[in-house]
Amino acid sequence: MDPADFYTGIVAELYGPLKSFSQAPEPYAAFIQQVGMPALELGCGDGDPLLELRRRGLEVEGVDSSADMLERLRRRADDQGIHATVFHQRMEALNLPRRYRAIFLAGPTFNLLPDDATALAALRGIRAHLAGDGIALVPLFTPAPTPSEQIRRVSTAAASDGAELRVSVVAEQRDETARRQTTLLRYERHHGSDSSVVERPWILHWYTRDQFEKLATTAGLAVTAVTDPDGKPAPASVTDVLHYRLQAT
Ligand SMILES: C[S@@+](CC[C@H](N)C(=O)[O-])C[C@H]1O[C@@H](n2cnc3c(N)ncnc32)[C@H](O)[C@@H]1O
Repeated sequence: MDPADFYTGIVAELYGPLKSFSQAPEPYAAFIQQVGMPALELGCGDGDPLLELRRRGLEVEGVDSSADMLERLRRRADDQGIHATVFHQRMEALNLPRRYRAIFLAGPTFNLLPDDATALAALRGIRAHLAGDGIALVPLFTPAPTPSEQIRRVSTAAASDGAELRVSVVAEQRDETARRQTTLLRYERHHGSDSSVVERPWILHWYTRDQFEKLATTAGLAVTAVTDPDGKPAPASVTDVLHYRLQAT
């Protein structure tokens, strides 16, 4: 399957109930307040943190490649009485009517782009949608292999209709040369005698700092800062999530 379609169908349905944590809105609220509006979240999914940012009165729009995730976002927005403008597009084929002072991803969603060519297309899209002195924020990390004792371990959650939801890692392949890890995930939904089971490859692709800076330069962007998520300067060796700030050259 196309990696941009991973979060569809049963995966979108189980995403909210099975997710272990939500991205904190604070770093993104601070970023928008510092660099200005309008702002755009790429890979906004079912609305974290976009809905909280909207609730705080920030002018933020969203983009996601999954119609199913956006449908869930719209339902949550309606339930909370929040107005949100979102677009069903891929970030590597961005074509929006506005330009933004702030463009960001919340958490390392950019690592879902499966190769350098797709990442370059996304960076070119970001460049084209930044207002003159706008700034982009791209969190990136280098994933660790799934520990062997976690392979086949099942996480469960209950759906609102009482169904049992399960997710587990079936197998994993890691290619250090291509900088790509493919984790085969199994999603299950069991309700009485009804069961659905789907297995999907979840791809993560990563970069050294140098490799990412070169892609950015090719896209007409310059890396102006690399920090930890709290905005503190990050040493080059850090393998946790790093926040890259980009500006048009
Ligand atoms: C891990 S989820 C994060 C969603 C949300 N920001 C959150 O923290 O709950 C990643 C989202 O990125 C979207 N996505 C993946 N590849 C994409 C692409 N190429 N273009 C746009 N969105 C993409 C997925 O559909 C999914 O909704």
